[in-house]
Amino acid sequence: MKGEKVTTITFQEMKDQGEQIVMLAAYDYPTARMIDEVGIDAILVGDSVSNVVLGYEDTLAVSMNEMIHHTKAVSRGVDRALVIGDMPFMSYQTSAEDAIRNAGRFLKDGGAEAVKVEGGRGVIDKIEAIIESGTPVMGHLGLTPQWIHQFGGFKIQGKTSEAAKLIVEDAKRLEQTGVFSIVLECVPRELSKIITGEVSVPTISCGAGPDCDGQVLVLHDILGLSGMTPKFAKKYVDLAPQIQEALANFREEVKARKFPTRNHSFKMEEKEIKSLKGYLSKSREAK
Ligand code: KIV
Repeated sequence: MKGEKVTTITFQEMKDQGEQIVMLAAYDYPTARMIDEVGIDAILVGDSVSNVVLGYEDTLAVSMNEMIHHTKAVSRGVDRALVIGDMPFMSYQTSAEDAIRNAGRFLKDGGAEAVKVEGGRGVIDKIEAIIESGTPVMGHLGLTPQWIHQFGGFKIQGKTSEAAKLIVEDAKRLEQTGVFSIVLECVPRELSKIITGEVSVPTISCGAGPDCDGQVLVLHDILGLSGMTPKFAKKYVDLAPQIQEALANFREEVKARKFPTRNHSFKMEEKEIKSLKGYLSKSREAK
């Protein structure tokens, strides 16, 4: 399934036409190809690669170089989907200059077409600088995992009217700054519905309910590969037990000498075997 290339402009058109935007976080070439082929609109090379694929404790650990490495792999697998690189912890918080340089690397070296930046009022100047330098930005509000130590853990954000007001204000600031869309993560569905009505740019829900302009989930969660699927994600297939069964079968067959069979081996012609054996016996005699 192929269609027209998705751009940041397409995102806005989809919101305006009431078409849901479908997005996945993914990190490598073969899965990027499959995601692109079924017509999913965007791939976020999320900093969740840190804990989902690289085995780090949290998303704070992943480096710029690791993010670029994964973004390159995803970009090589994609023709249609919009590729968005996720700015890792401390790649933009430090200064506008760092933010511009690191965002630019996602486009220049990684082949992405946009970046995602976590945070609102605290990083508005960095987001503005990135956009002014020519790199489109997707905002990210609510339960932003890079701020987890400030939140005191993975807690739903914006549950009180006071907390919700700050998130609505941040969404409006992001809109004014020129982001092309905003991810809303783990906020109550009532709040994400209000924000979606208040801002003109598309909102993408990650555990923020059905009333946003699109949805994003982590590929490994929907495939049953990430151990623990969060409450807001749906496991569309449970691949982990199937993969383990295949691995156990491989082990058993090798131990029992059932693999490889003739079908999995290459054959040498009779005359070549004869000639090889002749050569070996002659060299033995010569010794
Ligand atoms: O890193 C990530 O996977 C994300 C989510 C919004 C999907 O930021």
